[in-house]
Amino acid sequence: MKLVLDVLLMLLGALLGIAANYATNQTDHVPWPLRLLRDWSVPLVAVVVLLLVAGQVWMHFLERPVAITRTWNSSQPPYPGLEAFTEDDAGVFFGRDREIRDLVGRLNPSAPAGAHRFVAVIGPSGSGKSSLVRAGLLPALGRRRGLWVIAPPFAPGAAPLVSFASSLAAVLPDTTVEQVQTELTQGAAGVRRCLDRLRTARGGRAAPVLLVVDQLEELLTLTGARDRGAFLSLIDESLAADPHLWVVATLRSDFLTDFLGTGYAALTHQPTLVGVLGRTELFEVIEKPAEQAGLSFAPGVVARMVDDTGGGDALPLLAYTLQQLFLRVGSGGTVTEHDYRRLGAVAGALSDQADRITADLRRVDADTPVLSTLLKFVTLEHGEPTRRRVHREDLTPEERTVTDAFVTGRLLTSDNAVLDVAHEALFRQWAPLRQAVAASTDKLRRRTELERWAQDWERSGRQDAIC
Ligand SMILES: Nc1ncnc2c1ncn2[C@@H]1O[C@H](COP(=O)(O)OP(=O)(O)O)[C@@H](O)[C@H]1O
Ligand SMILES: [Mg+2]
Repeated sequence: MKLVLDVLLMLLGALLGIAANYATNQTDHVPWPLRLLRDWSVPLVAVVVLLLVAGQVWMHFLERPVAITRTWNSSQPPYPGLEAFTEDDAGVFFGRDREIRDLVGRLNPSAPAGAHRFVAVIGPSGSGKSSLVRAGLLPALGRRRGLWVIAPPFAPGAAPLVSFASSLAAVLPDTTVEQVQTELTQGAAGVRRCLDRLRTARGGRAAPVLLVVDQLEELLTLTGARDRGAFLSLIDESLAADPHLWVVATLRSDFLTDFLGTGYAALTHQPTLVGVLGRTELFEVIEKPAEQAGLSFAPGVVARMVDDTGGGDALPLLAYTLQQLFLRVGSGGTVTEHDYRRLGAVAGALSDQADRITADLRRVDADTPVLSTLLKFVTLEHGEPTRRRVHREDLTPEERTVTDAFVTGRLLTSDNAVLDVAHEALFRQWAPLRQAVAASTDKLRRRTELERWAQDWERSGRQDAIC
């Protein structure tokens, strides 16, 4: 765009020069092209000036600082608990205005062609990366109506190319996941074809397209080496082949070193870092959603909660505590010091809930396999417990009783019969599970390795000889 404006400016200069020249130097013996220029230079000057003004207005529209507006649907709970905020929660998402502005600034479609269009959002587990992208960045870009074409966020999982294909198929008209997968086997050219069809469907042939990869670390924890390489090279080549393609990917900072060893370190060269929320922002994330929902706090309670929310895993714990308090007190109610302490305060709310669910299950059947079931949701990387999704159909009836109870207690989530922990903080914060993970380290590591090999073998058409 800037280049177009520069060319117009040069054209304007030349036309003015010609017009001035002929105005002062009248002669009838001039060749016809120059005569044409002489006769039309004044209207042309007017048209170029108009184009310049329109271009400036358009540039201003693209580069104006993002306005963070919030609308909230009062039928929704104001705190999503352990789960990340989604686009639907944008109206109650606070504390990250600076980061949202930074990210929107990075995603500038009028940036020069050489701009780094892979934006890695890096921070510790539980710092709020997924929430920032889903409830902060995406709604802000969506408000730039008609400008961005955004495919639904996806996590790589065990088969990243299938996850990628599902995300594109969800927004491509009359297209199945299998059809997109076939396109993806054609490499960057196939991706380009899909994206161009997406652009045509959304009415903007040169529209910037944004892919959002959440939990990029799953490439290192759940994906086999072959699939990881195939996915990363496809993304890398697609970025090179399509100058209007952008990728935002969240990555846990403890996996950065491993990611740098994948051969695609250059992708993360210009990251956006997400740190823990400061004190002022913690007050905001407690009080502002409460204001929207008509919830109040007795004097001193919010300050207590902010004090109790240290660093580390504290944000998910705070989020869970707030959700539980809202469920107990309800819209229009007041949270007292007593409510807060009875819940176990920020540090205890999640553990107390897990203890309560376990006690209820064991009251019915003392042999309920609580910890062994939850261990199915853990994969180990450098001794760090990380989430692993589980299909409900892969569980025994006893195990399903456990997962159902934990889903009801909001410590697990269920989406299309795929179960997941609401947050990895559960592995670290609930002592019985933490101890079970520590006691099963070898077993978990072996299972993780085996699954990755199996995944690679499966994808390579089971061709390799297994000795
Ligand atoms: N700005 C915020 N205000 C309040 N809670 C937040 C905020 N950002 C994240 N959370 C909560 O913190 C927890 C971790 O957020 P998430 O986005 O899943 O982090 P990450 O992706 O970095 O692990 C979740 O419980 C989420 O609801
Ligand atoms: Mg996340």
